[in-house]
Amino acid sequence: MEIKTFTAYNPTRLHFGKGVVETFGETVKNYSNKVLLVYGRESVKKYGIYAEVANELTKAGVEWVEYGGIKPNPVIEDVRKAAAFGMESKVGAVVALGGGSVIDSSKIIAAAIATGIEPWDIVSWKNHPAGSLPLICVLTLAATGTEMNAAAVVQNPKTKEKLGYVNPVLFPRESFLDPQYTTTVSADYTAYGVVDLIAHALEAFFGEGEPSVIDKITLSIIKDAMEQAPKLLADLTNYKLRAAIMLDATLALNGLTSYGKTGGDWGVHGIGHEISLLFDTPHGATLSIAYPAWLELQKDRIPERILTMGKGLFNAKTVEESILKLKEFFRSVKSPVTLTEIGLEDKAPQIVEQLLRNKVSGMHHSLSAADYKKVVEYMG
Ligand code: NZQ
Ligand code: ZN
Repeated sequence: MEIKTFTAYNPTRLHFGKGVVETFGETVKNYSNKVLLVYGRESVKKYGIYAEVANELTKAGVEWVEYGGIKPNPVIEDVRKAAAFGMESKVGAVVALGGGSVIDSSKIIAAAIATGIEPWDIVSWKNHPAGSLPLICVLTLAATGTEMNAAAVVQNPKTKEKLGYVNPVLFPRESFLDPQYTTTVSADYTAYGVVDLIAHALEAFFGEGEPSVIDKITLSIIKDAMEQAPKLLADLTNYKLRAAIMLDATLALNGLTSYGKTGGDWGVHGIGHEISLLFDTPHGATLSIAYPAWLELQKDRIPERILTMGKGLFNAKTVEESILKLKEFFRSVKSPVTLTEIGLEDKAPQIVEQLLRNKVSGMHHSLSAADYKKVVEYMG
């Protein structure tokens, strides 16, 4: 039990609940009369969310230009094009309408428009923007926590990297979370979102520092998600369950679970990002495969911590049981737990090579080539 020195900062104003977009147009107008609206491929138009948001902007007299087509596991080329378009159109703010991929892209777009910095230089930590255009988000998928944090994750197929960039200027100024908007998310992406939020809580839990109250809060977030998820998967349009998972997801990665810690571990996310980069696997699906394997690899280094997790979540008696129960939960929500299940059984050498290439590691414990081989073997 030890609370590390920490600084807490979170400037995002969060609007949560049914109908919160009613104040969206006026809120956006406080920042600018002309905005760049960014969204994904088809869901927001198909399910009427775009129409509602556009209506609010029109009512408030906000003019907009738009960039649609951001793909899951977003790529830097879209960010570049959208930033250039936003600059040319002289927008004063960016509005992101979608899930993590759209919001992460929008964070870099907003910073690039404000500073003129080449987007990949931002994502690859070469050039740090000192400011950003205001970013206002309407979240449509509960998973990443990006709606209330300062991180953005983008891929570059040319350099073969999927990187996460963190800078306080990336915090959204305002985020609108209406759980109703998430009722159309498919069962598989709903499950990936649950896995993702649990993985965020766990990455924090396995970071350095063991503040007792935060440990309890973190495990409670995971427990709540584990309790609600099976009910939600049987009843995808249930507003109350959607709301519960949406709040869990925000709380898992808005800074709270890192209070009293020097940071999270993030080794599992490192592995997951390499798999997404190579095979375009959805983020959450990579995590349900990598988390149990990672704990297997780490079980001699941090046995007590794994057992604390297992006891807290499952009443587990041993480290092995703790890992097994976590894997069983992921399996129960139908998120894959092996590479074989997603057809990657013969890709092990390629994954090991990629992990080595980008030197994936957790906090304070770099891995050897033999470790990479082992962890990929554990992913079966
Ligand atoms: O593209 P459209 O047609 O909009 O469809 C999307 C996409 O196919 C669909 N979707 C979104 N809202 C929907 C919906 N379908 C039906 N109804 C709705 N209301 O869902 C699919 C996945 O969307 P995506 O935005 O990719 O999902 P998610 O929110 O899980 O974001 C994943 C990305 O976030 C990054 C991941 O690496 C990945 O690139 N992360 C960002 C983090 C951060 N910024 O803090 C932390 C995370 O660990 C994560 O790394
Ligand atoms: Zn994640």
